[in-house]
Amino acid sequence: MKDDKKIVFITGCSSGMGRITALYLASNGYKVYAGSRKPHKLRDIESESLIPIKLDIKDFKSVEKFLNNIKKVDVLVNNAGYGLVGSVEEVSEEQMFEQFDVNVFGVFRVCKAVIPKMRESGGVIINISSFLGKIGLPLLTFYNSSKYALEGITDSLRHELKPFGIRVHSVLPGFFDTNFARENLVTNKTTFSDKSPYKDIVSTLAPTLIEQINNGNDKIEVAKLILKIIKDENFKARVAIGEKAKKFIPMRQVLSDEEFEDRVEGYYLS
Ligand SMILES: NC(=O)c1ccc[n+]([C@@H]2O[C@H](COP(=O)([O-])OP(=O)(O)OC[C@H]3O[C@@H](n4cnc5c(N)ncnc54)[C@H](OP(=O)(O)O)[C@@H]3O)[C@@H](O)[C@H]2O)c1
Repeated sequence: MKDDKKIVFITGCSSGMGRITALYLASNGYKVYAGSRKPHKLRDIESESLIPIKLDIKDFKSVEKFLNNIKKVDVLVNNAGYGLVGSVEEVSEEQMFEQFDVNVFGVFRVCKAVIPKMRESGGVIINISSFLGKIGLPLLTFYNSSKYALEGITDSLRHELKPFGIRVHSVLPGFFDTNFARENLVTNKTTFSDKSPYKDIVSTLAPTLIEQINNGNDKIEVAKLILKIIKDENFKARVAIGEKAKKFIPMRQVLSDEEFEDRVEGYYLS
């Protein structure tokens, strides 16, 4: 029998937004390839419609290898990502390259391999960015700039792929309760030591961030939004989701940079 379900490919599915989106789309009639470095973590939700794939977005060959066996991709969700927390002067070169290797070059690698599989019949690419792709915070310069870069990728790719019927969107979540703060915030040891000149910022910001992420919105909201974007051909380019994103992103649009900076400092640094 011919399987004519739409094909979805999501990266970073072992936890959080990736995992719940894979499940949600699979239960809504899509065939989902759930990419992960740890596909065994998806065995409990594996089905005919949800296929775990071993994949490392830092390795183009591993992405290509999976796609060689797939005829077409209708929807790509670039979800995998993590956050490096440290001051610019203290973070090592290795740590800073790693942040961009995953959050930015990982997206390029996956897009490079997927676009040829999407170009003939069109499709949708959804980049999971962050409200921190529009708002800077101290000690998050590398994460912030990786997400700002992702915003640029969305803007340029939208033009580049429009002639082929491919829509590109950015989702900018506020804080959501996932594994992000528990496992995927990578802290720089020097910045977090008692000797660091940044220790006061660490002591104000770090507990707030962790508390806000762990008590953040429910990740199912992101999965539901992704389904809406897939279905609505006229969906806007970029969408904020979650309390913090809906609070700060409109503010950024109406205030001057300096006024906005004051608001962010009042909220996160005092
Ligand atoms: N939670 C929030 O508050 C929040 C807010 C704004 C934006 N976001 C963004 O949302 C996306 C999903 O995060 P989440 O909140 O669902 O967190 P999560 O539960 O920690 O999931 C992140 C996923 O990214 C992948 N990943 C993490 N580090 C990686 C690395 N070094 N190399 C390759 N893949 C890596 C992992 O996938 P595998 O283990 O399966 O490979 C992991 O499952 C991320 O891009 C994040 O930046 C999160």
